[in-house]
Amino acid sequence: MNIVITGGSGFVGSYLCENLINDGHKIVVIDNLLTGSTENIKQFMDNENFIFMEHDVQNHIEIEDEVDYVLHFASAASPKAYTEHPVNTLKAGSVGTINTLGLAKKHKAEYLLASTSEVYGDPLVSPQNEEYWGNVNPNGERSMYDEAKRFAEAAVATYARSYNLRTKIVRIFNTYGPRMQLNDGRVVTNFIVQALKDEDITIYGDGSQTRSFSFVEDTVDGILSLMRSNEYDVFNIGNPNEFKVLTLAEKIIKLTNSNSKIIFKPLPSDDPKQRKPDITKAINKLNWEPRINLDDGLKITIDWINKELIRE
Ligand SMILES: NC(=O)c1ccc[n+]([C@@H]2O[C@H](COP(=O)([O-])OP(=O)(O)OC[C@H]3O[C@@H](n4cnc5c(N)ncnc54)[C@H](O)[C@@H]3O)[C@@H](O)[C@H]2O)c1
Repeated sequence: MNIVITGGSGFVGSYLCENLINDGHKIVVIDNLLTGSTENIKQFMDNENFIFMEHDVQNHIEIEDEVDYVLHFASAASPKAYTEHPVNTLKAGSVGTINTLGLAKKHKAEYLLASTSEVYGDPLVSPQNEEYWGNVNPNGERSMYDEAKRFAEAAVATYARSYNLRTKIVRIFNTYGPRMQLNDGRVVTNFIVQALKDEDITIYGDGSQTRSFSFVEDTVDGILSLMRSNEYDVFNIGNPNEFKVLTLAEKIIKLTNSNSKIIFKPLPSDDPKQRKPDITKAINKLNWEPRINLDDGLKITIDWINKELIRE
């Protein structure tokens, strides 16, 4: 297939490129390098089945060759990144989704949207299954991301109904692993970098808020399972094992043999108190479930971050 991946030079996108190129597909990456890096895709740059287009998805997208599949992953994805680039984030999820849907419509291509657990906001039910409509502050400090993704889902559903487009939506939950940006404020990288440098580990709030962490290979496996399936629907992909943020910090201190101390800072507004995916639908319909436990995933990530810090 000829596959367009927006955001393909980012963390998750680069693993999709790797898997799909290895499966023999031709890939066009569209990315403005806002938070991604050509470092993540440098191994494919000379591959005849790979094209990189530096382009912002908020601008019209024109591709002459056939397109069979569009994966829309372009968006700042961490609270730090979307706070630094609020308007681009808003537009990547809104205008960018319309532009990529237009591309799929023109080429009669299938379409897969990277949505997020953030569409559930600060959830009033736990775990969250795909039927839950969420609890989101429409004009809060994270709304440029949450609401853009909610709009993106609405756009995908509307194009599917109006133009018979074959579309899928994956709601990705907290994913970590090698190739994450080290300075973008996500909790796993923050803690590991602080621990490896023996700096204080900063927890926002009292650390009792919970998160569920999915290792990137599991998440990507889930996304590819959805892509390859005949399911044109919405799926949660993530790891349902829930951990307190404090427990994560303690685990990382132990795994890195660090002398770091844990310090507590005020919780930012609209920070969700709990996040836990219900993945029953993915297990039953995609025959997928995560395989890598937190300790094993953390060890791989710690090794990678250690090497990155030495390189710096
Ligand atoms: N990693 C996670 O835990 C997670 C969780 C939920 C959802 N997601 C979604 O998965 C997707 C990828 O996330 P990631 O973690 O790989 O983040 P990332 O920041 O590493 O990757 C995003 C990529 O999109 C590109 N991009 C951003 N805005 C763009 C624009 N306007 N035009 C073109 N390219 C643009 C960036 O340069 C980057 O390469 C995002 O849509 C994100 O919302 C990720």
